[in-house]
Amino acid sequence: MTNGIRKQLRSQAWFGKADKDGFIHRSWMKNQGLPHHLFDGRPVIGICNTWSELTPCNAHFRELAEYVKRGVYEAGGFPVEFPVMSLGESNLRPTAMLFRNLASMDVEESIRANPIDGVVLMMGCDKTTPALLMGAASCNLPTIGVSGGPMLNGRYKDKIIGSGTGVWQMSESVRAGQMSMQEFTDAEASMNRSRGHCMTMGTASTMASMVEALGMSLPHNAAIPAVDARRQVLAHMSGRRIVEMVNEDLTMDKILTRKAFENAIRVNAAIGGSTNAVVHLLAIAGRLGVPLTLEDWDAIGSDIPCLLNLQPSGEYLMEDLYYAGGIPAVIRELDQWIHHDALTVNGSTIGANNAGAECYDRKVILPLDAPFKDKAGIAVLKGNLAPNGAIIKPSASTPSLLVHRGRAVVFENIEDLHARINDEQLDIDEHCIMVLKGAGPKGYPGFAEVGNMPLPPKVLRKGITDMVRISDGRMSGTAYGTVVLHVSPEAAVGGPLALVQNGDLIELDVPGRRLHLDISDAELARRKALWVAPLSPQRGWHKIYVDGVQQAHLGADLEVLAGGSGADVPRDSH
Ligand code: FES
Repeated sequence: MTNGIRKQLRSQAWFGKADKDGFIHRSWMKNQGLPHHLFDGRPVIGICNTWSELTPCNAHFRELAEYVKRGVYEAGGFPVEFPVMSLGESNLRPTAMLFRNLASMDVEESIRANPIDGVVLMMGCDKTTPALLMGAASCNLPTIGVSGGPMLNGRYKDKIIGSGTGVWQMSESVRAGQMSMQEFTDAEASMNRSRGHCMTMGTASTMASMVEALGMSLPHNAAIPAVDARRQVLAHMSGRRIVEMVNEDLTMDKILTRKAFENAIRVNAAIGGSTNAVVHLLAIAGRLGVPLTLEDWDAIGSDIPCLLNLQPSGEYLMEDLYYAGGIPAVIRELDQWIHHDALTVNGSTIGANNAGAECYDRKVILPLDAPFKDKAGIAVLKGNLAPNGAIIKPSASTPSLLVHRGRAVVFENIEDLHARINDEQLDIDEHCIMVLKGAGPKGYPGFAEVGNMPLPPKVLRKGITDMVRISDGRMSGTAYGTVVLHVSPEAAVGGPLALVQNGDLIELDVPGRRLHLDISDAELARRKALWVAPLSPQRGWHKIYVDGVQQAHLGADLEVLAGGSGADVPRDSH
């Protein structure tokens, strides 16, 4: 109801029919104990749930969805929960990213094909957030995001440890002989000790922050810990709000504008967010036809300082961020860089939502005039090694390596890396540049998070913890280092990365935004003529994906999924 006038909703094309079809649509639903009045034209709210026990970060979502339902009922709506493909980063092989686009198709078609007027997206583990936003955007119904929330801080012995980041640190300690296997095993239960997703500023926390910065959730969505009762309140209030959004016809395209994406890019820099946000936001924008390019990331965000002292770049974790004021305090601090008039799901602008936000801990959220790191956004590199671009996160890099010329040590694929990285005979030192091929969208396949290659033990034993690494893959948002990622075009399609050989000299110049392979054009052409394309998968999703996936600089969506089809389905099923 809006001002007492009942609006004809799309769900009424199913439930509002006084004929055989209407009987079928209502009658089978009633086997769940649903009374007749629920079909009277009130907003039907689909709760799109990525619950799965194989996605531990989202394993509490059945319970959280109950709080959404409370809110929906309270506001006069009719909630219906439905499952979609869940993507658990810690379990899925060869990489969860291979299935992001597949899950987005599940979301899109499940929403469009069903009697749903508005959608609540239950998102948590890394890829579940972009997959749900992408799929929902292609339908463009009123939609609100509810993230599952980060885990509590990990604690091992007397230390705070962050999920992901602590694994990389401790596994290097084991390889360097500084930590025993027993201690390493003990740390497993100490790191991830509550419900929720990774509590570092990894990809899950980054994407939850993007949801908030884009205006797709209520304020504080990103940082409330999963176990904090205020997470349940947020779910409840989101349930209430989505009913109002349906009555207001507040569709996704009214929120996800170019201004919203520019706000998100700047917030990503300010939070020291994951490089994975680049491909995800490009793909989401692509579903809505919002013009956004890889170059925008550099132009809009690279000058923004990092305000958060959070792992993997800093010290604290998401729990600390919430107590310090959360993303609202970050947005308030970024004030001069934010488009205040960008609309959000609560019907107010992002400026109005965060105008009164306070910071309660300056050790966690630093002020703009004394930031944690200067110029922390994503840098986009171009050159003969990456004609369509590559990215690096300077704030996670070693400053002295940001301008570096070194000898390439090449790994043809991930198996080659694993086979040789621990070989004491490997001809490598800390001045070399490690190059990994075959980790891109088509090459892996699935664009794996393997770009932060482990360092050789003989380098680690010198106390060196970083080297320049270049690949066509991605990097976990919880990782760090001087790591050039997303090289496009990738090696598997014959990009220049495929032509790099051991001993070639490579120049990295991050201030100059340059990535150069120091060989002649003639030599590059000679090598290209000899290049042989790798074999492609022959069946199933792997084939569909490899045949249709776009390159990293375009967001790695399937070409056929760019854009949207709206929510109309004029033909009935009976
Ligand atoms: Fe799920 Fe990190 S493994 S968010």
